[in-house]
Amino acid sequence: METKKLEHIAIIMDGNGRWAKSRGLPRIMGHHAGVKAVERTVRAAKELGIPCLSLYAFSTENWKRPRGEVLGLMGLFRYYLRSKLEELCKEEVRLRFAGDLSALPHDIAAILEETAEKTKAFTGTQLVTCVNYGGRREILEAVDKLIASGAEGPVTEDMLRAHLYLPDLPDPDLIIRTSGELRLSNFWLWQSAYSEYYFTDKYWPDFDKQDLLDAVGDYYERERRYGKA
Ligand code: IPE
Ligand code: IPE
Ligand code: MG
Repeated sequence: METKKLEHIAIIMDGNGRWAKSRGLPRIMGHHAGVKAVERTVRAAKELGIPCLSLYAFSTENWKRPRGEVLGLMGLFRYYLRSKLEELCKEEVRLRFAGDLSALPHDIAAILEETAEKTKAFTGTQLVTCVNYGGRREILEAVDKLIASGAEGPVTEDMLRAHLYLPDLPDPDLIIRTSGELRLSNFWLWQSAYSEYYFTDKYWPDFDKQDLLDAVGDYYERERRYGKA
């Protein structure tokens, strides 16, 4: 395989609900199965030596879902972080979060912050979970912070970027979306300007290491031009 930059893979994990429905199960069971796919994918990304994996777990629009589903998803975040933190620490995975954490239940926001703090010294794989994340909200928050800092225009890209949630994160080289939907749904709007996209019809709970390899293989076949001739 050609050695082309692949620092950051971002995944829009979609299709949990349809996966469950197709089995006659409640939607929340799809989210549970989705957690297993997260574990497989994190392992596979580590094996492939991908420096950064970001996962879209809950969007600023997902609050519009039925209350029971939202509560179930919050419960899953709690469970996952509490039960997996030790294991991820052992594997020296740096866990980070992007999103408006202030709107989350307090205990979850606290776990997320504590987890990020505990793992911040790890320099291997970074796992970024986007929770209550919206690209538009991120940009608006950055603009507000920029104004509050007293910065004067003309505003440069670097000035704005400095106020994004995780300014040091490389832009996603590859964005994968599962479940056959062909849209960004408010994910990494600023950062995706020159990302490559890969879509698969598979529902997220069925996503496995081979699917990641297929996406990565496809990425290496592409030519990234960034506007050049
Ligand atoms: C993705 O699966 C998980 C979240 C958005 C939290 P969905 O729950 O969107 O599944 P579908 O798209 O309804 O099948
Ligand atoms: C995008 O999926 C958000 C996450 C995967 C967390 P959605 O299922 O919410 O997106 P839409 O509504 O189909 O665009
Ligand atoms: Mg969906």
